[in-house]
Amino acid sequence: MPPEVPGEPAGPEGPRRETVSFVRRGDRLSASRQDAWDRLADTYVLDLPRGERDTLPAEGVHLDLEAVFGRRAPLVVEVGSGQGENVAAAAAAHPERDHLAVEVYRPGLAQSLDRIERAGSPTNVRLLPLDAQRALPALLPAGSVQELWVFFPDPWHKSRHHKRRLINPPFLQAVLPLLAEGATLRLATDWAQYAHHMREVLEATPGLVNAHREGPRPAGTPADPVPEGMAERGWAPRFAGRVKTSFENKGERAGRLGWDLAYTRVAAPTD
Ligand SMILES: C[S@@+](CC[C@H](N)C(=O)[O-])C[C@H]1O[C@@H](n2cnc3c(N)ncnc32)[C@H](O)[C@@H]1O
Repeated sequence: MPPEVPGEPAGPEGPRRETVSFVRRGDRLSASRQDAWDRLADTYVLDLPRGERDTLPAEGVHLDLEAVFGRRAPLVVEVGSGQGENVAAAAAAHPERDHLAVEVYRPGLAQSLDRIERAGSPTNVRLLPLDAQRALPALLPAGSVQELWVFFPDPWHKSRHHKRRLINPPFLQAVLPLLAEGATLRLATDWAQYAHHMREVLEATPGLVNAHREGPRPAGTPADPVPEGMAERGWAPRFAGRVKTSFENKGERAGRLGWDLAYTRVAAPTD
């Protein structure tokens, strides 16, 4: 029997065999986060029927975006939204768009609720407490997403854990059909090794083209090792719509650089 992956505890069906990009950490909430949850979760957290695990939607469940947001507007999806800094700020700054944040960490979701309230309680934001890779393709219609953001995903440093990195072919194959033609995929990491990995995977993905082919590498020499063959060009400028989170601050304090990437969804070659 394969070893249990430390993502989720064994369910009634036995140890998990599937590789996931997250670790289930404690779900317990501090008093203030519990208060935010109790007051705001009904409004903002999409509590969908669950499937075989509590991070998966039940089979056959779909999101009716018009019913959820009360309108149809360009949709921005953030995967791994952490404490909600970006989604709360973006929803408040862009009432013309709808924002969906996907995060499996309940304390982060509770913190996001508090941030959304402090940002003025925008009505164009919802939180989805599910595994993005499995849930989004089941829930969203093809071509419904205008921007997809993945900022500071878990780096999974050990070689044997590289397959758990979110930016890998299984995730890209799952979310690519959701991107409208011309939609933007925005990424950022503070780990040079992961930045290099992202570049290699993204450049090899049909249906995505680099939006900044000539963009220079971020200036400076990072404290972490830069892999051999690191691309000199093809890097996006720091995305102006990205709020500095604790992860970015921690990377900066440790002397690491911020590596931004942006790719445009194009029709995949048909041959
Ligand atoms: C390192 S944190 C970064 C959080 C945030 N983007 C930031 O910049 O501060 C990565 C987050 O991604 C979440 N995550 C990882 N895989 C996920 C998945 N498949 N679906 C939803 N959330 C995921 C983790 O729970 C974690 O909170």
